Amino acid sequence: MLNVGLLGCGRISQVHADSITTHPRARLARVFDPIEESAVAVATRFGTEHSTTAEAILDDPAIDAVVIASPTPTHVDLLTRAVEAGKWVLCEKPIDLDVANVDACRERIGDLTSKVMVGFNRRFDPTFADIQARVAAGELGNLEQLTIISRDPAPPPAAYVASSGGLFKDMMIHDFDMARFFLGDVVEVTATGSNLVSPEIEEAGDIDGGVVVLRGSTGAVATILNSRRCAFGYDQRLEAFGEGGMFTAVNQLPTSVRFSGADATEVAAPYLNFFLDRYMPAYAAEFDSFVTSIEEGRPFSPGFDDGRAALVLAEAAGASLNSRATVEVSA
Ligand SMILES: NC(=O)c1ccc[n+]([C@@H]2O[C@H](COP(=O)([O-])OP(=O)(O)OC[C@H]3O[C@@H](n4cnc5c(N)ncnc54)[C@H](O)[C@@H]3O)[C@@H](O)[C@H]2O)c1
Repeated sequence: MLNVGLLGCGRISQVHADSITTHPRARLARVFDPIEESAVAVATRFGTEHSTTAEAILDDPAIDAVVIASPTPTHVDLLTRAVEAGKWVLCEKPIDLDVANVDACRERIGDLTSKVMVGFNRRFDPTFADIQARVAAGELGNLEQLTIISRDPAPPPAAYVASSGGLFKDMMIHDFDMARFFLGDVVEVTATGSNLVSPEIEEAGDIDGGVVVLRGSTGAVATILNSRRCAFGYDQRLEAFGEGGMFTAVNQLPTSVRFSGADATEVAAPYLNFFLDRYMPAYAAEFDSFVTSIEEGRPFSPGFDDGRAALVLAEAAGASLNSRATVEVSA
């Protein structure tokens, strides 16, 4: 049984608490949040202990692993202290908002980076995982083009945007990782973007729509489309194209019910609303991979270096947007 501590008791932590408490070989030993009310709420809901200091978890030898679900600027500090205390770590994305901080962390913890898994949950989405496995098995021949579409239903609050790191580091970071999952190493990044959705996002100095083209070392090209607003809901699609054909992943519906009448035909319910609905099975599979990798002594995937590589692409996209030029990156 893996004893797990949860660091942070906000929005995504409740998903992790659910994955931990429903996993047959894990136990939620304690949760921590500096805001006591938040810690108590999650502890009560999931039937465990709470604390308002990280030490209550990091210094407890009975706790084997931690899930870091606190705000991004706290990740490097908590991750460093956790691995130095001998814990396994599942750290939410992104590791940090600055590659230099990630490199300083890597320098400090050295081989202990192997104790860190990064929460790129979309790799564990059954649909995307199936397509990636079949592409990797050669069903398309060489992968030539990958298209990833990721649009949120509505813009986040302006305050969130200001501290989130922006579209590339907060939102598209998932898609950078997905592109690497399919393409392997990326060598070139070309980005453009716009402010067509939210004046608040523009005032915060960020874009609200972005398109990025990545060239992989094999010559395959990935195109990523992001928007902070989508009239028809949470738009999560993917297409992989090669000599042998194409795989497509379409948006998911809560049921297969269709209505046809005088004014319209084949009317379906809205798509699964947002990430908490769309990716619930992926979060559970991600946590299962964390537990199983520890049990079987297998390296985590995605690991610390995958977290760094996605952030490198996000920084390169920012540089390309500003310079209006293609930016070269190295693995
Ligand atoms: N993988 C995904 O799909 C996904 C989705 C949402 C958020 N995230 C990531 O998860 C992280 C948290 O996001 P969120 O939306 O849950 O944020 P949130 O603001 O809802 O929750 C963060 C919680 O952490 C607490 N906190 C503040 N400082 C802390 C500290 N030093 N140590 C521990 N806890 C602290 C806050 O009080 C709050 O309860 C971010 O890094 C975000 O990028 C990932």
